[in-house]
Amino acid sequence: MRITGAVLEEIGRPRPFAESTPINVSELELTDPGPTEVLVKIEAAGLCHSDLSVVDGNRVRPTPMLLGHEAAGVVVSTGDEVSDLEPGQRVVMAFLPRCEDCAGCATGGRLPCINGTKSNNAGTLLRGTRHLSRDGEEVFHHLGVSGFATHAVVDRASLVPVDSDVPPEIAAVLGCAVLTGGGALLNAVQPEEGDTIMIVGLGGVGMSALIAAIAEGKGDVIAVDNLADKLELARQLGAAAAYTPAEVAEQGIKADHVMECAGHPRAFETAFEATRPGGRTVTVGLPDPSARASISPLTITGEARTIIGSYLGSAVPARDIPRFAEWWRAGRLPVEKLITRKITLDDINQAMDELAEGRAVRQVIVFDGE
Ligand SMILES: NC(=O)c1ccc[n+]([C@@H]2O[C@H](COP(=O)([O-])OP(=O)(O)OC[C@H]3O[C@@H](n4cnc5c(N)ncnc54)[C@H](O)[C@@H]3O)[C@@H](O)[C@H]2O)c1
Ligand SMILES: [Zn+2]
Ligand SMILES: [Zn+2]
Repeated sequence: MRITGAVLEEIGRPRPFAESTPINVSELELTDPGPTEVLVKIEAAGLCHSDLSVVDGNRVRPTPMLLGHEAAGVVVSTGDEVSDLEPGQRVVMAFLPRCEDCAGCATGGRLPCINGTKSNNAGTLLRGTRHLSRDGEEVFHHLGVSGFATHAVVDRASLVPVDSDVPPEIAAVLGCAVLTGGGALLNAVQPEEGDTIMIVGLGGVGMSALIAAIAEGKGDVIAVDNLADKLELARQLGAAAAYTPAEVAEQGIKADHVMECAGHPRAFETAFEATRPGGRTVTVGLPDPSARASISPLTITGEARTIIGSYLGSAVPARDIPRFAEWWRAGRLPVEKLITRKITLDDINQAMDELAEGRAVRQVIVFDGE
């Protein structure tokens, strides 16, 4: 079938992207789902820094690539071996499919799926298939999703069904920001009663960690970012205190556990320095692969510290996304307050500039339902 989607032509074009236009909204050909795959009509898709990292070359992926990995939509049709999804079912996309048959999947979320990681790096779906082309030229999938498009074919393992009372834009943000930030809190930090949590970096991922920590309600939540607007929103959402990284260093602010959600080595250093003895520093950000941080091994030993890396919120999406949907339904997780603006597919290059400047928490592309 013919679809419309946002294709990254090449990586590394200069900013502003509104002028260099690395992404073209194009007509593409999408082939039918294979036996384990599903055709989804996309309703909403959020912009995450991990999309921007492909555009600016922080994460090198094959191009041309149809971007977008934080998305939700409704099932249109399914392959022969998919027996548990009906047309019309609302689904959230998870950006790392689980094969359920590797050493990674056996860890229950702690270690990413090995086969899903391979297919994501290769720009294919879980079983190595590709369904996208433009004027006869093949186009790569992004993280098994490619959600910046009117329709997508994805593996069943990339989908989590949600009830239709969860609106599309909320469902989309559950798939990456909330699963990553909230999942890292519940599965990697695992706070105990009374523990203070600090979040360093308040984009969609960090702000999601913040609202999840407040919803869980174990102890005070401290917010850290360079940008005053982010600190103000964090206070409104219920942070007990909010600081710039410089203030954290100057005033010696500490927390029992600290989450790094910025994707920058300086933010990792801030997070490490601010962690109390015996505490966990959980890192979620994805900096440039060449980036290096400076921390003290003696402190790790002397203070019995733990550093944990968390990909995909160390989560099992089919277990954890329904839990966050339930928190949202109960009014405990105000995901709508993280949506800075709704945009259209044609705004995509400009929206990447906004994201790069830190002027948005989440921008969500809404499809008009044609
Ligand atoms: N681990 C995963 O599975 C996973 C999933 C999604 C995103 N990510 C990564 O998480 C990171 C955050 O994603 P996002 O979409 O929320 O990004 P974002 O760009 O929306 O937000 C990043 C925030 O960090 C702040 N920041 C930058 N440097 C800082 C510093 N030194 N100290 C404090 N704050 C700082 C920025 O002002 C911004 O508010 C990115 O690196 C992204 O690639 C990881
Ligand atoms: Zn993401
Ligand atoms: Zn696996």
